[in-house]
Amino acid sequence: MSPSEYNSPQSIIDNLHSAVIIIGDNLQIICMNPAAEMLLHISNNRATKKNIRQLIINAHEFFDRLERSLISEHPYTVYGDQLHLHNHQTIDVDYSVSPLQYQPQGKYLLLEFIRLKAQHKHSNEESILSQYEASKSLLRGLAHEIKNPLGGIRGAAQLLEREFSGEQNTEENKQFTQIIINEADRLKNLLDRMVGPRDIPTKCDINIHKVMEHVRQLVAAENDQLRLSVDYDPSVPELYADESMLIQVILNITRNAVKAIAANKSEGKIKFTTRTQRNYTIGSHTYPLVAKIDIEDNGSGVPPELHEKIFMPMITGHADGTGLGLSIAQSLVQQHNGLLEFQSEPGKTIFTILIPIKDSKNHKHSNHTFANNSSGAEK
Ligand SMILES: Nc1ncnc2c1ncn2[C@@H]1O[C@H](COP(=O)(O)OP(=O)(O)OP(=O)(O)O)[C@@H](O)[C@H]1O
Ligand SMILES: [Mg+2]
Repeated sequence: MSPSEYNSPQSIIDNLHSAVIIIGDNLQIICMNPAAEMLLHISNNRATKKNIRQLIINAHEFFDRLERSLISEHPYTVYGDQLHLHNHQTIDVDYSVSPLQYQPQGKYLLLEFIRLKAQHKHSNEESILSQYEASKSLLRGLAHEIKNPLGGIRGAAQLLEREFSGEQNTEENKQFTQIIINEADRLKNLLDRMVGPRDIPTKCDINIHKVMEHVRQLVAAENDQLRLSVDYDPSVPELYADESMLIQVILNITRNAVKAIAANKSEGKIKFTTRTQRNYTIGSHTYPLVAKIDIEDNGSGVPPELHEKIFMPMITGHADGTGLGLSIAQSLVQQHNGLLEFQSEPGKTIFTILIPIKDSKNHKHSNHTFANNSSGAEK
């Protein structure tokens, strides 16, 4: 390449880190740079002459704005938008749109996308994971300190019961010692659940749709007014996972959804969706293939004050809740090197379970990434 070619507009655009797409009349793609090929998972050759509606789907507002900008020739910028791609992937982006007069006979727009995934999503996940680890280690310490004297109290009550003789050996007195024993057991049980699951997962190849159908039928049987729909991607490969743990995770999330729409059950909708995501980063590791399971409801939405701490144990928005369902679910998902996250607004809440697929059989790697996830009991 000669020095003048290095400086040609095409070469400059090709070397940009941000994804650049030029579109013309009727939102037809004229060309894109390599960063845009990566972002949209399509080559420049294949994308040229396609309509951008074929690559980014169901983004009516996005298309409307582009069309208005083509006519008005006004530039604009959008921050923190989420776009759904033709390959079912979702991307978080900032983008700018600038009208371009690059041939006298037509109107063109230059779209420049900056992907947010690397910064925002990563810091969100890091914060979920570190928040979770911090609360878990605090609880472990606290549970240990409470369980020791609790064992002593229980043992002393048993001894006392055996020591009853003569007048003291009455049913009433025995009832008192039984109360001490039962309450000590109840407290120990609660502490065990707070600290989280202790079982080592028993993993084998499982079909995620079989697990989801099991939960769907269970929840449908309990709530005949609810509409439970599914949108499964049959190409999701088998997961190397503990079936009963995944049932527990999906059940805990779905029961929360049922509660969130309890006020208006006849209008209540829950949807199970499965997809795969390529090159997906969870925590500090990028996995070639990840299973993405969405459980969506049209209930009241997660109360804003719970957003930051929802995965912590004992955090509940219900008077009768123990606040353990999601913390246990997070723990179980992490035992599969995965992550549980959510997005919520009134009328639309989506809990997303992400579990690596291809890597899941690689035990050496699994142990390395989350060596500290060793705990287990079902809720
Ligand atoms: N789909 C949802 N829609 C709205 N709020 C939700 C949803 N899922 C969870 N929440 C909120 O998050 C809180 C914590 O959920 P979590 O499952 O951990 O505990 P819980 O349901 O209160 O008690 P339990 O231990 O019985 O599950 C809930 O109390 C509720 O306020
Ligand atoms: Mg719950």
